[in-house]
Amino acid sequence: MTVAEKTRISPETEQLFDDYVIPNYGRYKLSLVRGEGSHVWDDQGNRYLDFFPGWGCNLLGHCPAPVVEAVQDQVAKLIHVPNSWYMEAQGQWAKLLSERSFGGQAFFCNSGAEANEGAIKLARLHSTTGKYKIITFEGSFHGRTYAAVTATAQPKYHEGIGPLLPGFVYAPFGDLAAVTAKIDDDTVAIMIEPIQGEGGIRIASQEFLQGLRKLADERGLLLIFDEVQAGCGRTGKWFAYQHYGIEPDIMTLAKSLCGGIAGGALLAKKEVAKSLRPGMHAATFGGNPIAARAGIATIEMIEEQGLLARATELGEMFRAQLAPLVEELPFVTELRVKGLMIGLELSLPGAAIVQACLDRGLLINCTQGNVIRLLPAMTLTDEELEAGCDTLITALREHTP
Ligand SMILES: Cc1ncc(COP(=O)(O)O)c(C=O)c1O
Repeated sequence: MTVAEKTRISPETEQLFDDYVIPNYGRYKLSLVRGEGSHVWDDQGNRYLDFFPGWGCNLLGHCPAPVVEAVQDQVAKLIHVPNSWYMEAQGQWAKLLSERSFGGQAFFCNSGAEANEGAIKLARLHSTTGKYKIITFEGSFHGRTYAAVTATAQPKYHEGIGPLLPGFVYAPFGDLAAVTAKIDDDTVAIMIEPIQGEGGIRIASQEFLQGLRKLADERGLLLIFDEVQAGCGRTGKWFAYQHYGIEPDIMTLAKSLCGGIAGGALLAKKEVAKSLRPGMHAATFGGNPIAARAGIATIEMIEEQGLLARATELGEMFRAQLAPLVEELPFVTELRVKGLMIGLELSLPGAAIVQACLDRGLLINCTQGNVIRLLPAMTLTDEELEAGCDTLITALREHTP
């Protein structure tokens, strides 16, 4: 029996969702029960190769042993303490992140949207003259809370939930002249994903990001990088901005920050960080002992196993496998790769390709309707990469528009 013919979810689980879970997600009828490395299993025993583990959260693969061990150890000692007390692991985690980025200080939270909320508040708090406008970019994705979704310059995410938060101005991604023209006396910051993820793996050019840094310096603006998807080693460097020879003033992280455990962070240069004064911002679970231990274990695993270099190597292997498709198949228009952020743009909807891969036991994603997005794990083996690419290439070849 092929995977396509098999059931992938128990009727009981499906019924529970029908009866009790708000249907705000489009879900595939597949219920996962176990994961190991780049494989997951459904509740019927079917195995899948996962090229999109945890929507970008499982950069180390499913259940990475050092993270599992750290969490198991911590959960038996101390599960949660409020941020009114000190806790060594949180301080150590902040130090490790600071040393690998631009030497700033950390505020911890639980998700990407929450980190971006913090960044937006910090930018406004940092202005001594009440400046409040933030320039963000078309095609961006910053999360679903009100400030983050307003920062997200995609009309589809704004439908029916207005009025949005005032003070956001949108510019085309890559257009420095347009950004310059949008700056006025109330502008306080520019906020950007160096590589747009949900927007279709759109990689900012050197000139554009360096131009934004120069512009921010000249006009006294803060530069905020949302590295929720691109950060923490995914692109082969600790942070995507490190490919560009510049630094942001504030950076946000989440997704793979804690090896699959929920966690988010905002890092800010010290002179900016001090504007987040006591009482101005908080997150009850932010930087909790479990997230902190998982975050530390994540950094240690990446370094001990040389996974930054491996991410670069794997990215180039994906490029070698997929680049010929642009010549071969008329509906494959462009391949974009930065380490383990991989986008294959099609001139037609990609949903059928995702389904065809699922039917063959490979999990992938499609964003913006027509960009096949892969966010594979750094721990993927050469054999898994080849097997998954074979499946994807076969699905594409068999797809007649
Ligand atoms: C670049 C970026 N920022 C923010 C977010 C929101 O993160 P979360 O879903 O953890 O709130 C995402 C999620 O996909 C993202 O890709």
